[in-house]
This record gives sequence, structure tokens and C-alpha cells, in this order.
Amino acid sequence: MKIIKTAEKWKKLKAGGLLKRGSIGFVPTMGALHEGHLSLVRRSIKENAATVVSIFVNPAQFNDKGDLKRYPRPLKDDIKMLRAEKTDLLFLPDPGRMYADGYAYRVAGQDISKELCGVYRPGHFDGVLTVVMKLLNIIGADRAYFGEKDYQQYILIKGMAEAFFMDTEIIPCPILREADGLAMSSRNRLLKPEERKRAPLFHALLERRLPPGRIKKELSAAGFRPEYVEERWGRRFGAVKLGKVRLIDNVRVVGSRW
Ligand code: PAJ
Repeated sequence: MKIIKTAEKWKKLKAGGLLKRGSIGFVPTMGALHEGHLSLVRRSIKENAATVVSIFVNPAQFNDKGDLKRYPRPLKDDIKMLRAEKTDLLFLPDPGRMYADGYAYRVAGQDISKELCGVYRPGHFDGVLTVVMKLLNIIGADRAYFGEKDYQQYILIKGMAEAFFMDTEIIPCPILREADGLAMSSRNRLLKPEERKRAPLFHALLERRLPPGRIKKELSAAGFRPEYVEERWGRRFGAVKLGKVRLIDNVRVVGSRW
């Protein structure tokens, strides 16, 4: 696996024909990789001649600076995992180069950016859309893979790619869960043992045949601090805080569930 750190280097490699074997698949991440990320990498490897993964903890999408500071960065383990999958290339840019403009230029999402997580994380989705636009422009992949765990993010990225006539096809991938139902997430490793034990109740309650308002109450009773439980796009979305950690999840809803 080749590791490169700048857009210039990537462009040279492409011009040199290094990855001219066929289609390029791309999986953008913020690292602290788990099986959920790896499921995207495996799908890309299956569907493309070459796979590029990026790891970049994007400061622009962290509205909470404590969250940015706490975000896990086990880079050595990540590199090992990507090598084991036979990833072709890891793109590892630094914030100074990614934001040489000082974040003067950004993609501003309307409407969908401002609901659900957008209410509780002002500016978050503009940071996500901006960095994904930069990454997609640099890599120029045929396909890019995103998890349905962050479904609102996927909808926004797909909408942006269409609105700006971008060449990369945006592909959604199903949510991977732990055996107890908790959606895999890089932030799970920040949960204290007692919180980790309680965390699967979040998913279990989202699945209950109850109105969203009732589920919110049940979440509070179970020791979570719920932000929202709402339904959109045939899914039920939830966000909660558990200790210092923010968890999000969503489940499909078929017709009316209560
Ligand atoms: P990150 O949270 O590292 O996630 C990278 C990708 O992995 C996203 O597409 C996310 O939806 C997917 N993913 C995470 N957990 C998953 C799970 N349990 N099952 C399936 N897929 C899962 O999302 C981001 O990074 C960033 O916002 C990014 C798009 C990289 C922009 O900075």
C-alpha cells in the first residue's frame, strides 16, 4: 500500500499511470477504523480495479472543539488494517494543505443540512460537504462509498455530487453493527465500560413500535440524553448523548410502526 500526503503527489502518480488499471474506488474516512469502514473498503475492492482510502480528521466539521481533541487517532493500527485488506493507496493529507485558503471557500448546504444533526451541530455539514468536495476533486474516483450509518451525510453528499455535476458515483452501504446491535462507530471506543454496556439500548429503542416522542422519553428513562428521534426518507433517525459521547443511528421503518 502506497501512502501519499499531498494532492500534487497523487496527480503525479495518476499522470504516471500507476493506477491506470481501470476504475478507481474511493473510501473517505476520519480513521479509527473498524469493521464498518472495512466493509466499505471491501466493497470498493470488489467493484474497482484500484481502491484509495483517505484518513483525515477534518477540523471544519467539528463544531465542538473538545470532540475534535478527543477524536481517536490510532494511525498505526489503521495502516495495518488497510494493508491487510490490500488497499492500493492511502491518502493522508494535513489540515494546513487541505485548508490553505483558511476555509475561506466552502460548500453551504441548505434545508437538509439544517435539520436532524444540523440543528445540534451548526456548521457540521458545511464542513463535511466542503472536505468531501475537496477529496472527490483530488482523487477523481469513479465511485465513492459512504455508510448509511450517517444517512443524512450520504443524502447531502449525493445531492452535492448531482448539483455540481461531479463525475464520481456516490454509493450507499449498509450499517454494520456489533453483535449486541450497537452501530459500529469510531466514537464507541470513547465510551466508559458502564456506558458501553448500556449503549445497545439506543438501537433497541429505535426499533420499538412506538411513536418517536415516546421513544425519546424511554431513552431519557434509560439514562441517555436524547437530542432527536424523527422519521424521514422511510427511516427513523436518532441522536443521543451518553456521558461525553454523542451517538447517532437510524433504522428502516416500513409503513406506520405504532
Ligand atoms: P467516518 O466517521 O470515519 O466514516 C467514514 C465512512 O464510514 C462514512 O461513510 C461512514 O458512514 C462509514 N461508516 C461509519 N460507521 C459505519 C458502520 N457502522 N457501518 C457502515 N458504514 C459506516 O463520515 C466521516 O468519517 C466523515 O464525515 C467523512 C465523510 C470522511 C468526511 O470527513
